[in-house]
Amino acid sequence: MLKPQVLDALNKQIQHEFSNSYTYLAAAAYFEDQVYPGFAAYFRKQAGEEHEHGMKIYQHVLDLNAKPTLGAIEAPKADFPTPLDALKFVHALERKTTAMIHALYDLATRENDLPTRGMLEWFVKEQVEEEKWTDEFVTTGERVGSHTGAWYMFDHHVSKKAKGE
Ligand SMILES: [Fe+2]
Ligand SMILES: [Fe+2]
Repeated sequence: MLKPQVLDALNKQIQHEFSNSYTYLAAAAYFEDQVYPGFAAYFRKQAGEEHEHGMKIYQHVLDLNAKPTLGAIEAPKADFPTPLDALKFVHALERKTTAMIHALYDLATRENDLPTRGMLEWFVKEQVEEEKWTDEFVTTGERVGSHTGAWYMFDHHVSKKAKGE
């Protein structure tokens, strides 16, 4: 049985994960528009993963015989001064997501909700990965700076990552 405060926090996390999906889709459109196909493909893939994150929690709520309540999703940020700003934006977003997952884990621990805590273990590990790649993207982007040719090389590298190479 899910406690109301845990259900409420899970609903907020579902909303946040779907909002992340929307943000990555907007970032993919930005990179598509800027003709960086590698980043566009990578962010589009990321949008799909965030959708799956939302669905994992949605299913967890249903599995505990409760009903998920879906909140409104705001329009995502769609434009950035530079590609590096877009990378910094998603890095900050992943850090925020990590903080939310940790707070949710703490709540599940306090409420002695072992199924929810168990489900969240996956998210704790996932956020380590999410912060790692976004941090690497920002570091590489800062190194590339205003060198246009190097941005194309970076984009090519990211296109390989999007294909899992
Ligand atoms: Fe996520
Ligand atoms: Fe993420």
